[in-house]
Amino acid sequence: SGFVKAHWMEDWYFGYQCLNGSNPLMLRETRHLPPNLSVTSDMLRPFLPEGSSLEKELQKGNIYLLDYEVLDGVPANVINEKQTYLSAPLCLLHLNQQGQLLPIAIQLQQKPGPQNPVFLPSDSGYDWLLAKMWVHSADFQCHQLISHYLRTHMMAELCCVATLRQLPDAHPLHQLLLPHVKTSLKINFGARASLLASKGLFDQAVGSGLATLPLLLSRGSARISYRTLCVPEDLSDRGLDKLPQSFYAQDALRIWDTVHRFVTSWVELYYHGDDAVQRDPELHGWLTDINAHGFSNGFPQRFHTRAEVAKFVTALIYSCSALHAAVNFSQLDFAFWVPNCPVAMLRPPPQVKGAVTEDDIMSFLPDVNTTCRVLMALNGLSQPAIDFVPLCHYKEAIFREDAHRRLLEEVQAQLRDISDAIAERNSQLELPYPYLSPERIENSVAI
Ligand SMILES: *[C@@H]1O[C@H](CO)[C@@H](O)[C@H](O)[C@H]1NC(C)=O
Ligand SMILES: *[C@@H]1O[C@H](CO)[C@@H](O)[C@H](O)[C@H]1NC(C)=O
Ligand SMILES: *[C@@H]1O[C@H](CO)[C@@H](O)[C@H](O)[C@H]1NC(C)=O
Ligand SMILES: *[C@@H]1O[C@H](CO)[C@@H](O)[C@H](O)[C@H]1NC(C)=O
Ligand SMILES: [Fe+2]
Repeated sequence: SGFVKAHWMEDWYFGYQCLNGSNPLMLRETRHLPPNLSVTSDMLRPFLPEGSSLEKELQKGNIYLLDYEVLDGVPANVINEKQTYLSAPLCLLHLNQQGQLLPIAIQLQQKPGPQNPVFLPSDSGYDWLLAKMWVHSADFQCHQLISHYLRTHMMAELCCVATLRQLPDAHPLHQLLLPHVKTSLKINFGARASLLASKGLFDQAVGSGLATLPLLLSRGSARISYRTLCVPEDLSDRGLDKLPQSFYAQDALRIWDTVHRFVTSWVELYYHGDDAVQRDPELHGWLTDINAHGFSNGFPQRFHTRAEVAKFVTALIYSCSALHAAVNFSQLDFAFWVPNCPVAMLRPPPQVKGAVTEDDIMSFLPDVNTTCRVLMALNGLSQPAIDFVPLCHYKEAIFREDAHRRLLEEVQAQLRDISDAIAERNSQLELPYPYLSPERIENSVAI
């Protein structure tokens, strides 16, 4: 966190965090300017390479976008009897020839207009810094509630309940999935009774309070599509697969492939053909249960092939293990320096340029006592899980049977190779990306 404190104001580190930080799920390549972002080619020319233009950079795939429209118009919390504020920024970034991703325009609200200026790197230092802080504040809400709670914790709970309800103990997918989801009920009940409840952390300290949560969580759920849960599709849809600068993307893809091979072998061990999949009523009861209570956007309604089952199960296992590690492990590293991650903002988003001073910046940040609560909660989450089981390791007797043991030896050896490769890479780096190293990934959502 010393590094964060020293570099949080720098533009390259803002871009760095979109790819190598704790919420690598928001950034996406864009080939068109969003219609509601009021920038022109001329405005942005000074921040693009000599002789190039916004159109050319868009065409080359060098322009990226952060869009927090899910926060548009949601009510913000009242903390310590003070109204706080949320914004729904749009932020444009440029991937330059040195491989840095630099923010080049920030509009704090979705609807363009005279009271919603577009902040630029050439604005006064405090205007630009404050605009970036607003983006990080919006990102914190989306990170905790959507990337972390919905995509990992709720996904695990959904799968856990459907598995217990619809698949008998002896069903091969019950056996494979339960170790990945069984800890989720306890931790989620705990989170809803403390962190998300009245007088809990969000109520007392975070910009998204009790009035925000139902709305934001339901909007967030509606935006979770099946494609975004499948790593190869998600990364190529967002243009991250081609970026050597995204360590999340590189590591995520290797882990997905390894888990996917393992799950495919598991599925093929039990289903001897696609028709066996189609004729399994328990499997379809399970899928229907997940769809009925979960996310609806593009999820399969029926399984026709073994490959579809394997992909679906891989997406579930990945979300409960690797994705949780990527969004959870990393939070303390980036959030401990509060200005880098303002969990609430005490003043409304600026409607004009040139109105903030250095002192003003601090007056946007939450009270000291509020900040302490958040840091203590994050610290509490850092207690190592007592019975940590690494990804694709299983204690259940069933996994010691010969056929299973062979599959496990294979997947575990491949994961060890990934760990070694990541350790080797990280040893050369000033800023390592350790979060997706398989030996640090827990098999299930336990915290
Ligand atoms: C991500 O981290 C790696 C290693 O520190 C670095 O080489 C890369 O440039 C980073 N990406 C961005 C966009 O800064
Ligand atoms: C603004 O544009 C973006 C990108 O096209 C879109 O995702 C978002 O929904 C728009 N917001 C509003 C309020 O229209
Ligand atoms: C936190 O600090 C603020 C301002 O310093 C004060 O008004 C508030 O009562 C304090 N809250 C608690 C719970 O101590
Ligand atoms: C969650 O993150 C904390 C650090 O913030 C870490 O100590 C803990 O082990 C993580 N849990 C899991 C399951 O990754
Ligand atoms: Fe968690």
